[in-house]
Parts: sequence; C-alpha cells; structure tokens
Amino acid sequence: MKDPLLTLRRREVLGGVLGLAGAAVVARAPAAAIDLPGIPLAPSRRPEPGLVELALDAAPATLTIAGRPAQLWTYGGGFPGRALRVREGETVRLRFANRLPEATNLHFHGLHVPPTGRADNTWLHIPPGEVFGYEFTVPQGAGGTHWYHPHAHGTIARQIWAGLAGPLIVDGALDAMPELAEADERIVVLKDLALADGRPAPHGVMDWHKGKEGDLVLVNGAVAPQLGARAGTVRLRLINACNARYFRLGLEGRPWHLIATDGHFLERPQALDDLLLVPGARADVLIPLEGPGEVRLRHLFYDRRTPHFTPERTLLTIVPRSGARPLPLPERLAEVPRLRPEDAAARRRITMAMFLLNGQLFNPNRVDISGRLGDLEFWEVENVGTMDHPFHTHTWYFQVASRNGRPEPFAAWRDTVNLRPGDRLELLVPLRSYTGRSVYHCHVAEHGDKGMMGVVEVR
Ligand code: C2O
Ligand code: CU
Ligand code: CU
Repeated sequence: MKDPLLTLRRREVLGGVLGLAGAAVVARAPAAAIDLPGIPLAPSRRPEPGLVELALDAAPATLTIAGRPAQLWTYGGGFPGRALRVREGETVRLRFANRLPEATNLHFHGLHVPPTGRADNTWLHIPPGEVFGYEFTVPQGAGGTHWYHPHAHGTIARQIWAGLAGPLIVDGALDAMPELAEADERIVVLKDLALADGRPAPHGVMDWHKGKEGDLVLVNGAVAPQLGARAGTVRLRLINACNARYFRLGLEGRPWHLIATDGHFLERPQALDDLLLVPGARADVLIPLEGPGEVRLRHLFYDRRTPHFTPERTLLTIVPRSGARPLPLPERLAEVPRLRPEDAAARRRITMAMFLLNGQLFNPNRVDISGRLGDLEFWEVENVGTMDHPFHTHTWYFQVASRNGRPEPFAAWRDTVNLRPGDRLELLVPLRSYTGRSVYHCHVAEHGDKGMMGVVEVR
C-alpha cells in the first residue's frame, strides 16, 4: 500500500534540511506547467493512392501518470492510445494485434462504416495473442473527430478504464478552408483515472451503478497542461474518453465557437457559453485569441444525479502567441439539411433506466429494432430513471428533433446525446448506407456492460 502521507513527510524533512532559503524558493516558484502532450500517430504507410495501412496493438505498458508509475493497458504503448488519422475516401487496412491477457476488439466510435465483416464489427472478439486485419473504406464527407475503444460486451468498462481509448481523426475536404487550415489544431482527449498500487483502481459495486470516475482528470495524459498557441486561432478537437465523467466545460478569457458535434460540422459556427461533453461525445471548437492574456478551459460543476462531486478546476491553459492575429470565423461550414419527423417511415420508443432499455437487459441474440435500409426513423428516447444517461448509436448517426417538446436551436448531427431524468428526446435516425446488425446503448461504460444496450438490424 502506498501511504499518501509519506511523500508529504519526506518533503517536510527535506524542507528542514534545506532550511528557510530553500523553502522560500519552493514556495514562490509557480508549479511548472507541462506542455499539452501531442498524441503520436500509429505507424502508417500509404502504398498506393487511396489506401492507408495502419498498425496498432493493445498491450500492457508502464507509463508515468501525474508523476507516478502506472501500469496501464495501452494502444501502441501510449495513454491516450496512438492517433489513427486517415482521409475521407481512403480504404483503411488496420493490422490489430491483441497482446492483452484477454479477448478484446476495436470499435470505431462515430465512423460511418459497416457494422459487419472486417469493418466496425463489435460482434467479433479477438483472442489474446491473435492478430486481426480490419478493413473498410471511409466515405466521402466523413471527415471529423472520432475515437476508438474496445467493445467486447461485458469487458468494455474495465478495458476502457484500464487505458484503452485513442483518437480517430478523419481529415476531410472542409478542413482545407483557410479559416480552419491555418488554425493551431490540437486533439484533446479528456480521460480520468484513479490509481491503486500503481494500477487502475478496481471497480467496486457502486462503480457499476454510478459509472466509474477517477481523481486524476487527464488532458492527453497530463494534469492541467499548458498550450502555447502557434497561431492566432486555436481549434480544439475535444473527445470525452471517460467511462462516466461528464464535462461541463467553460472558457475563461475569450469567446469560443462550436463548429462540429460528434465529428460533423455545423452549418456555421455557434457562439458557445458552456459546453456539456458527455462520455463518448466530441466537440470541435474555435478559439480566436484576440489580444494578450491566458485562456482557461474549465471543468465546471455538473450534477448528473449521482453523489459525485468534482471540485471545479482548470483543465487546460492556452497562452496566446504574441502578435498573432486571429483568423476570421468561417461563415459557412457544412450543409446540414434539417430532417423532418413527418418524413419518418417508422416510429420507435426507447426508455432508459438503470441497466435497462425498454425494461430489458441486453441480449445480443435478440433484435430490438428491425429497420429497412434507406428509411428515416423517428426514435423517441425517454429517461425514466433517476440519473443522467448518455444515449449513443453505432453506425447510423442522428439529429435531435426536439428535447421535451422544444425544437433544437440549430441543426446538428450527433451520435451521443445526454438525457437527464425525465427527459424525452425525439431523434431522427436515417438508416442509410449499410445493412447489418449494430447496437445503441448508454455510454456510461458500466451501464452498457450491465445491460443498457440494444440491437438494431437493418436489411
Ligand atoms: Cu463509444 Cu458502443 O461506443
Ligand atoms: Cu460507438
Ligand atoms: Cu447510463
């Protein structure tokens, strides 16, 4: 067992030895801020135009987290996992080696590729010691901020908690507009962790109910790092890769603008106040850095109706580059046609409550929703439970038509959306491009594992 007081006592002893002068220096020196770590790319090569080959392994590794050694499960030896970065229209061949002591697989969260075969097929389990070749083609227009993580049912929460999560970025045609291309673009993976004896703290009974949170709130694996801006505008690709932690984010020091939700551009930038980023969700934001003075990305209080209390804190400090001028905001981003409920071919109702969807536990052999390829569907999702639940769909993403009867202020594509207790959301889900069996679930990882998951089959 590690005694947290031990470090303190040793410091006190050291202070005594160094005497007053030493102590004064220590007291005045500001905590040396760590630079926001970049996330190295997974090894890749492009042997011919339109084809990208990637290599990734899942393997245990000992890393230094918040100054302490931590034995984690990693993708490519990193925490967060190595970045997978591909282009719209490319065929991806990904050689995945499972060097963990148990079965796992990959889910490409947010990527619109088939849920079958060698693509985003979460029904496959890769045994320990085996290598599997994933292969799929990224459609045109799929550019965006996504992520990947394990999805072998029943082990998802434990494996994500052990460290398995990485960014999946698709570069698209729209990213080339100068207002975006000239910005300082950073991938920002938010992931929490708690260590016990140098390993991810094991799940206790209550963790399965509340969803597991950790005291270490890490930004690309670091505590409260600093970002020295390289341009007058910063574009953050924010990813919530936590099992259960909700981020209500605020920005102190400058206005900020939402440009994409879950990897899909909006029609135009939306001025942001607070941003709620639930587990699984992504947001791309632009921060024009007019004038000097730091900017702080803050983790604000949010009550998701569990007895969790996180003190508010700064996640990231942005230091503007002196003399750099902000870029103009893009006037138009993507075409986002507003889907209409009256065009829906089928209506579904899904209730959410602890561990159950529509009163039932997940059964991989039961088809809960059976749809037709090309249909637009209207899904009414209601949280009939007592805590928040983030609802997520694989393969087919959606628009929120209304929340509690109120229409959404602007059209946006999403794959993950929060429901507070009592919330009733109307979703419009186009079942397009692919047939096959896929899933939808609560993205508190523990809740999904315990049964808050359903099967949708499209033929
Ligand atoms: Cu991140 Cu089944 O999802
Ligand atoms: Cu997903
Ligand atoms: Cu849940």
